[in-house]
Amino acid sequence: MNILPNLTSPLSIRSLKLKNRLVLPPMRSRKASLEGHVTDDFIKHYTDRAVGPGLVIIEHAYIAESGRLSPQLGVCDEKFVKGLSRFTGAIHAKGTSVVLQISHAGCMSSSEIIGTTPTAPSAVKNPRNAKAETPRALEREEIDEIVQAFANAAERVVRSGFDGVEIHNAHGFLLSEFTSPLMNKRTDEYGGTLQNRIRLTLRIVEETRRRVGDYPIFCRLGVEDMLPNGLMLPEGIQMASLLAEAGVDVLDITGGMGGAIKPGATEEGFFIPQAEAIKKKVNVPVIGVGGVVTPEFADEVIRKERVDLVAVGRAMLKDPLWAIKALKTLEKKER
Ligand SMILES: Cc1cc2nc3c(=O)[nH]c(=O)nc-3n(C[C@H](O)[C@H](O)[C@H](O)COP(=O)(O)O)c2cc1C
Repeated sequence: MNILPNLTSPLSIRSLKLKNRLVLPPMRSRKASLEGHVTDDFIKHYTDRAVGPGLVIIEHAYIAESGRLSPQLGVCDEKFVKGLSRFTGAIHAKGTSVVLQISHAGCMSSSEIIGTTPTAPSAVKNPRNAKAETPRALEREEIDEIVQAFANAAERVVRSGFDGVEIHNAHGFLLSEFTSPLMNKRTDEYGGTLQNRIRLTLRIVEETRRRVGDYPIFCRLGVEDMLPNGLMLPEGIQMASLLAEAGVDVLDITGGMGGAIKPGATEEGFFIPQAEAIKKKVNVPVIGVGGVVTPEFADEVIRKERVDLVAVGRAMLKDPLWAIKALKTLEKKER
């Protein structure tokens, strides 16, 4: 008998066994130290919210100094592993699985933070950020170094006791600058066609898989820039399919170039239609997100099999007990 899942259904992804379908999505807390270390405040922020969701995905950590924001968690060096291990121990003590998002900020960084001009696929400013500096276009050798830096960071994620790693390809950060036709004006094998624009992320996925073996790899993928002449959903769907074929275990679907909130959106689940369209095309679990605030809506998108997992961000930021309350509300309704 095929029993339809609901918000409380478990889900297995390789070795990872999620107790339910509710996810805390990555959200920058600004609670890491200036250098990028885990702090007591950082641990408290997440342990407070780790009660209830089956999975917490931890905010973007920088994989190289050139791709840093500040203050932001670091994963670009062995010196961070000790603090990250203390952190995963604290989340696991709450009975919750934990994944770390790894990222290069590209032209979202600034020379004030990294001491040199930020880099991007092309010398093109982020169209959503009028005050941004014009970045320097990456050389091909530098792109090779970025592939290695992501994979090195992923190995540290494994060694720090996380249950999975998430590659950040969204919201105007470096990898989404490559996938966006607005920001990628390259004429080499990393620019132009869809296959060329997703090439860097595919290389990162392949190298990461080679290094981490049978370990969950997530990808947060911006599938629409939400700007004229930007990346649109049909291309986003094709990119998602290529990533799943390359070995991504979970697609975490979002959108927006330089902002994660759909402009003008008031509806619950504003990026769920995009995730739903991708779920129809791929054979890996898909996370949907966007303005979810009620337990009923979160449960419904799972029951209707629109997505496999649902992320609730700002509502859980505001109320750390949102997940516990939501699960209790749904349990009462079931009785
Ligand atoms: C304060 C804040 C920080 C965020 N930081 C990140 C981040 O580090 N990485 C990421 O992929 N998305 C980030 N996001 C986007 C969220 O993960 C999420 O996709 C977005 O808030 C929409 O979900 P919501 O409507 O449930 O909040 C951030 C959002 C907020 C509000």
